[in-house]
Parts: sequence; structure tokens; C-alpha cells
Amino acid sequence: MADATEFHDRMLSLGLARVSEAAALASASLIGRGDEKAADQAAVNAMRDQLNLLDIAGVVVIGEGERDEAPMLYIGEEVGTGKGPAVDIALDPLEGTTLTAKDMPNALTVIAMAPRGTLLHAPDVYMDKLAIGPGFKPGTVTMTMSPSERVSALAAAKGVSTENITVCVLERPRHEDLIKEIRSTGASIRLITDGDVAGVMHCAEPEKTGIDMYMGSGGAPEGVLAAAALKCMGGQFFGKLLFRNDDERGRAKKAGIVNFDRVYTRDDLVRADVIFAATGVTSGSLLRGIRREPGWVTMETILMRSKTGSVRRIEYRAPVK
Ligand code: FBP
Repeated sequence: MADATEFHDRMLSLGLARVSEAAALASASLIGRGDEKAADQAAVNAMRDQLNLLDIAGVVVIGEGERDEAPMLYIGEEVGTGKGPAVDIALDPLEGTTLTAKDMPNALTVIAMAPRGTLLHAPDVYMDKLAIGPGFKPGTVTMTMSPSERVSALAAAKGVSTENITVCVLERPRHEDLIKEIRSTGASIRLITDGDVAGVMHCAEPEKTGIDMYMGSGGAPEGVLAAAALKCMGGQFFGKLLFRNDDERGRAKKAGIVNFDRVYTRDDLVRADVIFAATGVTSGSLLRGIRREPGWVTMETILMRSKTGSVRRIEYRAPVK
């Protein structure tokens, strides 16, 4: 088996973009059709088929569920031809199934690849998340600060008033107090109904997206994917696992988590260089969504490598068969 240094193969990164494109292409005809499950299944099937063509000895560490639930792309599933470097794979074939079914902004197909043993095996529980973009000193915002302290600290670091800060938050009843507190500072809030991987990524390009900070809880697996994206784009990310019951603690133990109170930084979640690819399914501030015209479908993919800091945007036009 080839060693981890080969992981940085440039062609492999292009292969990863094809995996993400294939999932988007498969879900294209299901945008706005009101069927979350069908859209997700189409993306999963296509992602798996394409992933298995890559010359990697891959193991899914963030995937569609536990092995005993028997989904495709389950956690622990071996993917690739087995001939290449040993890698961890984190994926979400359709991040924003409801967004896709309702044709709402920011649905993505997402995949990240890093050397074996370097991505956190996050259990399927919630994670409290905090993210800001690049260019700020370590400690500018922390998990121990209250939400309003974070807004003030970021405003001070940017040299602006709190009214000029925009925070992205998932619109959920559990975030009512968080939203109230952020609003009390004068900051504005971009509420999203789903898709916090995109929500976090928006912090890396505030001029383009208008978002300075991400706060609130969402899926822990999505937290690892978001950390992988920020490791390539620049920016700070913090995550703390949240447990609602013993079953969730049990799942964390099974995934190898020993310290349930730990605050993970971006580089704790993604411990080595990573390749990240995401394709827009529905349009958002970061990526254009799939465009359909008679006989053709066009999509946009962002492909990034943390080792080189390279960020590519690839437009792919494919004939519809
Ligand atoms: P799906 O694509 O699986 O529907 O997940 C979308 C999502 O919004 C994630 O981006 C987010 O982390 C999570 O769901 C939030 O979970 P909940 O809907 O339980 O608040």
C-alpha cells in the first residue's frame, strides 16, 4: 500500500471533484420535487459509484450512518480501489436534503479526504459550533465567551461597531435565546433553515457572503466537514459535542471519544492536510447551483487543498442522457 505522502497527488484532488459533481448531477432532477429521500439516495448512489473508481484505500469516517443501519457509505465502509494511499473520507452526499426538495439556497454535495487516522470520528450527535474567518489572532473569540461577548470581541478585532457584524444561525426553537442575545448587541443575523456546512464556510469570505461569524448547534458530522473546509479557506472553528442522553454518550464512546467536555479546534477535528470538494446543488452566496437547460446541466464545484492553500472553482457542463 502506498504511504500517506502520496495522498497529496494532484490528480486525486481532481478525482474528488468528480465525486462531488457526480452526486450533484444525480440529484439535479430531484431539485424542488418535494422528495428529500429520493434526492439523498440518488446523491449517495452516485457518490459511492464514483468514489469506488478512485485509486485510494479509503475508509468512511463521517458518512451516512452506522453499519448496523446498513446504509450505503456507512461509517467504516471501505471505498476506492484499495490500490492507493490509506485515507479517511468524510462525506455528506447531499448536505441540505430539505433545501434540495424545496429548491431553497445553499444545498451542497460535500466530500473531504485526509490521511488515515486524521479526521475525528464524530458521532451522530449535536455539536455547538463557533466559526470566524481568516486574519484574526488566536483567542479573538472563544467558546467560553457568551454570544454577546463574541460579537463585541469580533467587532473590536475588525475595528467596526457591533451593528456591522452579521452572524449566521440555524433557525431552530433551541436557538431562541442565542438569537435574542445576539440581537441585543445590535448585530444582524442571517437565519438559515438548514445547511450549516455552507453557513460556516460563509465566514471565510465575508466580503462576498456578508457573514462574519457562525454560532449555534448542528450535526457533529457536519462540524468535521465544516472544519475541513475552513482548514483550506482559512478561519477559526470550535466545536463541542452535545449529548442529550446515554444513548448518544454511548455512540460517542463507540466512536472513541473519551472526554465528553472537550472543545475541539479546527485542527483537532482535522489533524492533517485535507482535500475538500463541494458542488452547489441549489444556488447560494458561495456556489452557483445546478442550472438545467434542454439537453444540458451545468454546475459549479469548489475544490481546495489545505497543503497548498489552493482554491479552484470548476464549472462543469454535462449532457443529460
Ligand atoms: P440534512 O441534509 O441531513 O437534512 O441536514 C441538514 C442540516 O441542516 C445540517 O446542515 C445541520 O448540521 C443539521 O441538519 C441540523 O440538525 P437539526 O435539523 O436537527 O437542527
